[in-house]
Amino acid sequence: MTRRNILKTAGTGLVLAGASPLLGGPVRVQRTLPRDFLWGAATSGHQVEGGNINSDSWVSEHLTPSSFSEPSGDACDSWNRWREDIALVKRMGLNTYRFGIEWSRIEPARGEWSLASLAHYRAMVDACVELELEPVVTFSHFTVPRWFAGNGGWENAESVELFGRFCEKAAQALGTGYRHALTFNEPNLAAQLSWQPEFRQAMAYFAMGNQQAAKAIGSEHFASTLTSDPAKTLANTIAAHHRGREVIKSVHPRVQLGLSLAVADEQAAPGENALQRKIAEVYRPWFDAVDKDDFVGVQTYGRAVVGPDADRAPASGAEVTQTGMEFYPEALEATVKWVAKATGRPIIVTENGVATNDDSRRIAYIDRALAGLGRAIDAGTDVRGYIHWSLLDNFEWNRAYTAQFGLVAVDRKTFVRTIKPSGPHLGTYAKSNRI
Ligand code: BGC
Repeated sequence: MTRRNILKTAGTGLVLAGASPLLGGPVRVQRTLPRDFLWGAATSGHQVEGGNINSDSWVSEHLTPSSFSEPSGDACDSWNRWREDIALVKRMGLNTYRFGIEWSRIEPARGEWSLASLAHYRAMVDACVELELEPVVTFSHFTVPRWFAGNGGWENAESVELFGRFCEKAAQALGTGYRHALTFNEPNLAAQLSWQPEFRQAMAYFAMGNQQAAKAIGSEHFASTLTSDPAKTLANTIAAHHRGREVIKSVHPRVQLGLSLAVADEQAAPGENALQRKIAEVYRPWFDAVDKDDFVGVQTYGRAVVGPDADRAPASGAEVTQTGMEFYPEALEATVKWVAKATGRPIIVTENGVATNDDSRRIAYIDRALAGLGRAIDAGTDVRGYIHWSLLDNFEWNRAYTAQFGLVAVDRKTFVRTIKPSGPHLGTYAKSNRI
């Protein structure tokens, strides 16, 4: 018979239960979380909707040769099946759905607004509210309209004005049924990837793709997320974030507004000292830029072990995921603690997940990531939600449909959705509101 330890603290409702470590048994820690803790699953417009023919990505996907292993095509047909997707979130026991709105659907040509698309996204917000789900809206998840890419994308200072105008139109249409929004998804991703040797090698290829894309749309420029001018892009996206925040809040003053960052658990390889340089490049400008935001969205998939001037490949023998990353769910504990400390802002985990076709590994990943999140909360980190990437197996950018991040499988021919065991598994945490 093991001795039970029960210990409650006022702040987190921490409950320690199980065998005493003195007796050598495992300790299960359970914390009751605040009542409005967000438990969700996420998607982005382009990765699930299908047929986003006016986006920059669609252009790049159809180049010959293309860096995409396949075009997005119909994706998950969520443009038509979005009600079913929202119902799935509910059925799994979660309380939050994070989704993106597609600028290229809303403003397919410069200054031309699609009322039907605006109404579509408004209906998504309303449907979540009806089902008592919290919608978390991403205004920009990587993709931009092809005309905007042709205008020089984020390298052009005019992008700030253009993004502000888009945010205002969209916010006016969306109403006030949503309480959380992100201007940008991972605007620091390109900087983070530039520390990966394979990405550096592919840069010339991407640049060639952008030249070819410019030709394809009959423009002088084509600047996508993979910019050729990181300094201008950084300055303009920071200004666009601030402008977006201002206009969205002027329409919907009670919204909690932030952006999400790609955050790896950054570790220095033994004896190496490039880590601080990497942090200064990849994170510092954004940590400073979010100082007036209501929260920071942390998006973590693993750790980066930083060598003299690049990230190291996973150690030989380490378990790796379908995207070649080390299976390392413990990263989440470190990243939420770090970003909270560095920014002084509350944290919402807006993405965390693993690419695998073995759903039992996803369950293990979720359990270990959440155990770490619990430890971070015990240490005093202000975490307001955990949103898993992704709701659906979807279009994983250049890898197309070869990586499965979903809690739900999607049949590639019929689009039939099938909930995997990991879905209700995450739902069990949500329903008990405990880690
Ligand atoms: C992005 C998602 C992507 C996921 C998995 C994140 O960087 O926000 O769009 O699918 O990682 O690679």
